[in-house]
Amino acid sequence: ATLSNNPVTARAHTNIALIKYWGKKDDTLIIPYTSSLSLTLDQFYTDTTVQFDASRSTDQLIIDNQISSEQPLHRVSNFLDIVRRKAQINSPAIVNSHNHVPTAAGLASSASAFAALAAAASKAAGLNLTLSELSRLARRGSGSACRSIFGGFAEWQRGEDDLTSYAMPLKAAALLEDIRVVALTVERGPKAISSRQGMHLSVTTSPYYPTWVKTCQTDLTQLKLAIEKNNFAKFGKISELNAMRMHALTLSADPDFTYFNGQTLTIMNLVKQLRHNGVACYYTIDAGPNVKVLCQKASVAKVVDTFSQLLGKQNVIVAKPGPGIQYL
Ligand code: PMV
Repeated sequence: ATLSNNPVTARAHTNIALIKYWGKKDDTLIIPYTSSLSLTLDQFYTDTTVQFDASRSTDQLIIDNQISSEQPLHRVSNFLDIVRRKAQINSPAIVNSHNHVPTAAGLASSASAFAALAAAASKAAGLNLTLSELSRLARRGSGSACRSIFGGFAEWQRGEDDLTSYAMPLKAAALLEDIRVVALTVERGPKAISSRQGMHLSVTTSPYYPTWVKTCQTDLTQLKLAIEKNNFAKFGKISELNAMRMHALTLSADPDFTYFNGQTLTIMNLVKQLRHNGVACYYTIDAGPNVKVLCQKASVAKVVDTFSQLLGKQNVIVAKPGPGIQYL
């Protein structure tokens, strides 16, 4: 590989999982127990510039104009080591990253961060990776990042080793045209229990974990069928159920824990009430208290109105399907 002295910038968008990834079979290589399926969103993205520089003695990480040290820097340096090994180089690098998250924070995500870093670093190191190879590389930074290489719906096929575990885009679907994700922010701070810790506790202590692995397979098949048939009601219902089945693993762990707070529950009830009143909307929740409401174009106004009254306009963001990895 020829090392480029020029900086390379890549942009990656966040994704929201509809069939969740929750549990690693291999903690180092990040091989999951289950396959997952996500939607990439247009509203939240990370731009990352990487420049290898042989005259430096160490890596430098800048996030949103702030120099990072300790854990974030170590995590990025470890990731760069994977790239350096592949490219057979040993230059330190400068990594400069900007998160674009409109008004509300608390939505920045390791998925867009590691997808953008994988793309920028591999290209700057002179590697010319295919999208599958890029997905495999992003996975090493953060599991969910392997899906942010692709736009629209992406399926992360769990595989069984480094070579076989990566995401791929789902065929263009009619359902994609009409879908909207209303992101509701109830908390902006960092989570108390990282997804890494949460997964580990769930895998090692929840008696329901083996059932989760089986259920995910069925949920994934059913969701893909709903997408194929352009059946939004079925699509929403399966997504909501799968998210709750994931959160049941936290409640059934030892010690038990939850990512929900009081407002999370209030929002869940309101979504159910809206549905009862004929508005087709469903919720999904990741490893934190914020909620994403899945709906269609025609019901966005109603959903936005309802939650703006509860949370304030600045905490309600409407997202559409977003694109895959881009070089700027
Ligand atoms: O990629 P990680 O390690 O941050 O884990 C993501 C976990 C969930 O967001 C809860 C589920 C998912 O599939 O994205």
